Amino acid sequence: MNHSNLNKKVYIHTFGCQMNVHDSEKIAGIFSSCGYEQTENIKDADVIIINTCSIRQKAEQKFYSELGRLKGLKYKTPHLKIAVAGCIAQQKGNALFERFPYVDFIFGPNNIDSVQNWIEADRQKTNNPPIPPLSKGSKGGFRTTALDDNPEYHTKHLPLKREGKGRAWVSIMYGCDNFCSYCVVPYTRGREKSRPVSDIINEIKDISKNGFKEITLLGQNVNSYGKGLSEKIDFPGLLKAIHAIYGIERIRFVTSHPKDFSEKLIETARDLPKICEHIHLPIQAGSDKILSLMNRDYPYVKYKEKVEMLRHAIPEIAITTDIIVGFPGETDEDFQCTMNALKEIEFDGIFAFKYSKRPNTAAINLSGHINEKTKSERLSKVLDLQAEITYRKNTEFKGKTLEVLVEGVSKTDKNKLTGRTRSNKIVNFYGDENHTGTLIMVKILEAKQHSLYGEII
Ligand code: 5AD
Ligand code: SF4
Repeated sequence: MNHSNLNKKVYIHTFGCQMNVHDSEKIAGIFSSCGYEQTENIKDADVIIINTCSIRQKAEQKFYSELGRLKGLKYKTPHLKIAVAGCIAQQKGNALFERFPYVDFIFGPNNIDSVQNWIEADRQKTNNPPIPPLSKGSKGGFRTTALDDNPEYHTKHLPLKREGKGRAWVSIMYGCDNFCSYCVVPYTRGREKSRPVSDIINEIKDISKNGFKEITLLGQNVNSYGKGLSEKIDFPGLLKAIHAIYGIERIRFVTSHPKDFSEKLIETARDLPKICEHIHLPIQAGSDKILSLMNRDYPYVKYKEKVEMLRHAIPEIAITTDIIVGFPGETDEDFQCTMNALKEIEFDGIFAFKYSKRPNTAAINLSGHINEKTKSERLSKVLDLQAEITYRKNTEFKGKTLEVLVEGVSKTDKNKLTGRTRSNKIVNFYGDENHTGTLIMVKILEAKQHSLYGEII
């Protein structure tokens, strides 16, 4: 531990997906190993990190307002350092310094290891003068970036400060090669790279030793795990190796791309008891025309076939999905195909979004962009339809006794605990906080729209 950083505090604000939440655990781990304490109070911070998301414009806008609000704090607190991480950092790079001259450091999702050098460089500088205003085009005094290709990033060992109790996230691969036409991820997280098997296994053994019961394997497209590795292994092979690790009782993985979702994976999920009965399989749309414009590489019937295979092999499987409404060229008939898909497949839950134009992506150049009002109407229709289906499915759990991994006190009701079933349903119930991180049996008494309510038995 570096004692000269003792009493220094870091505040981390995370926007976006699970991948970002996990990246923030890595950032927090590095700060912790350098002697920093994490604070929830932004005014106490010596360093503020904003880990950004650029998947949709709304997320980007939220970040700009947050960063704008920090200007006053920065000029009142000369020693305060502000760093921008994540997908917007990668995408905008130096341009962020022009608009926000009070930012000190910009680093991308594949350069989290550079945080350590930045902390060290900062420690060595005493009495930093305040940053002068920038002229256009200049990089400015102490401002630095870490945005380059970092070809060995996927092999690096970073310290981690894990957030959850009982469940832990593990990156198995970085980046994405799919180039879905709406999606910014391949431009911000770079090309797909798998982590070596031994690194993953060692990390999970360590997680198990620390008492975690559940792991979630993370990657943009976990089903293509293994491509480019010198060892011959695929995703089912990785799952088998992980399954053998003592102490881990639940295994989950996100996200699966339907085009790579194989029969072999379905059989593996059926045969390995630790793999939870839940799959997140983004469909995005129900119309073949739209799926093709999205560059998704499967027609609706193929998607449906995979769902049927899954349900045949694992009847109790819960399936959730992502939907985009108002993609360019989506007619009323195309939209109806999405509604029909929801009715036909009956997902356990969905995440639905209005299409949002993203820089560099192919879809911005398509014709037939849809107006905001139509997008909003379509989104409401999708959400209303799914609300009925989710509620109906939730009621089927009434009277059943399910295994729940307790996550802690519920954020919405401090008197109750909250946890998840193997099928990823949220369950709330009365109980002692000491149950946090353990597996318990809960009898379901009531179904709600987004959760179940039960009692410990
Ligand atoms: N507009 C709307 N939704 C998007 N997603 C990704 N890119 C966009 C976009 N440009 C959604 C997809 C993806 C989820 C993580 O976010 O549904 O599966
Ligand atoms: Fe984006 Fe498609 Fe890659 Fe998912 S698979 S991250 S939607 S490009």
